[in-house]
Amino acid sequence: MSINLAILVSGRGSNMEAILRSIRDGTIKGVVPKVVISNRPNVRALDVARHYNVDTQVIDDNGKKGADWEYDKRIVKCLQERDVRPDNGLVCLAGFMRIMSKEFVQLYRWRVMNIHPSLLPAFPGLNAQRQALEYGVKITGCTVHFIDEGVDTGPIILQEAVEVRDDDDVESLASRILEKEHEIYPRAVRLFAEGRLRIEGRRVRIILN
Ligand code: GRF
Repeated sequence: MSINLAILVSGRGSNMEAILRSIRDGTIKGVVPKVVISNRPNVRALDVARHYNVDTQVIDDNGKKGADWEYDKRIVKCLQERDVRPDNGLVCLAGFMRIMSKEFVQLYRWRVMNIHPSLLPAFPGLNAQRQALEYGVKITGCTVHFIDEGVDTGPIILQEAVEVRDDDDVESLASRILEKEHEIYPRAVRLFAEGRLRIEGRRVRIILN
């Protein structure tokens, strides 16, 4: 049975594109992109999604952030209309700048992934690359994780390290991290589609094939 995929975005959509590209070129098999949902109108990600012939839907939150089940119900309705269900679906948050409500997390338990530009649990929340630079760490990176009821706290699927260079600014560091994001997010989706992720407490074990 194939997995029905929804990708939630807010802006540029480069991680979304990395996933869609991997599906199109056959690196990821058994995953059908059903819809790309944005909480903001007219963002680049929507154009890219159309370019990949994926249906798009704007569910405008008018800039109102914060976990909100009333808003998330509109997402659930859209997911269900596209047959992205808790038993056959995968929802990828890809630069989606909202916190999901606990009701949503529970409904789609272990079916929602997120990408974060730091080695969690270091530097959760906004501006992770800036946080890493200001803290002075020598190594940072990126993390793909399942979401749980916290912010950037769910079980970790994959991580990749990136060295912080003395001459880095936020932009240069973010762009090297982004390259790694584009590698690990499609890889995590692929592992999920292959049924190779086992969640045991906080740990996600990757089953060898
Ligand atoms: C990425 O850095 C991702 O880690 C963070 O938001 C950014 C989204 O970029 N959650 P894009 O929209 O995927 O290009």
